[in-house]
Amino acid sequence: MNSNRKTIIAGNWKMNKTPKEAEALLGEVLPKAAGASCEVVVCVPYVDLPIACGKTAGSKVSVGAQNLHFKASGAYTGEISAAMLQEIGVSYVVIGHSERREYFAETDATVSLKIGAALAAGLTPILCVGESLEQREQNIMPEHIRTQIKIDLSGVSAADMGRVVVAYEPIWAIGTGKTATSEQAQEVCKLIRDTLAELFGAETAETVSILYGGSMNAKNAAELLAQPDIDGGLIGGASLKADDFGQIIAAAQ
Ligand code: 13P
Repeated sequence: MNSNRKTIIAGNWKMNKTPKEAEALLGEVLPKAAGASCEVVVCVPYVDLPIACGKTAGSKVSVGAQNLHFKASGAYTGEISAAMLQEIGVSYVVIGHSERREYFAETDATVSLKIGAALAAGLTPILCVGESLEQREQNIMPEHIRTQIKIDLSGVSAADMGRVVVAYEPIWAIGTGKTATSEQAQEVCKLIRDTLAELFGAETAETVSILYGGSMNAKNAAELLAQPDIDGGLIGGASLKADDFGQIIAAAQ
């Protein structure tokens, strides 16, 4: 963490919690976030967004979606636009999560369009990048991460980059209980910042919050968050348990 940048603890609920269950979980999470000095975000399923926006109004917690479509409107059955999210009070949106890239054929080209749509609607995109175990073992991780960053952010100006959050999520660490070591996570978050500096200038890169995601939990959060280029966490499984999420928020103080 670095006091010049915003520290963000974001939960990614993925496809979990019905609206009623979401209301109950938020009831437990809100008191734990009440005194937080960091930014706390819950990225919930589309149908939970209205209840999440209502419940968190006036609180420390911001609401995020987990995806959007890059077109403004039209014949795209089943899709949701950035303006729809913005109008109901959503402020963040996860873009390019590895699960969407893997299961829903999302590409760097569509991720780039989605980043542009989010920014145009005033939403804060949380761009996810990360390598597979195979790519790490083949020593092509740095090249892969740099390519993702370059293409995914190709339409973003230096001025707008200040409104983008990047999350490093090694695919091999997601939902596996196999967290990256703090050294591994720091190394890649630094690589991301160096790449941002090349693309947008060092001054801008210094302002971007870079999160780590992948089996972050109440036990390992403090060590990960102590790294100089890790400005927060994107948390899956542990964000579904109010106590664990609360402890991660506390570790970010
Ligand atoms: P887990 O914390 O469950 O490993 O998930 C991480 C993640 O994918 C957050 O977006």
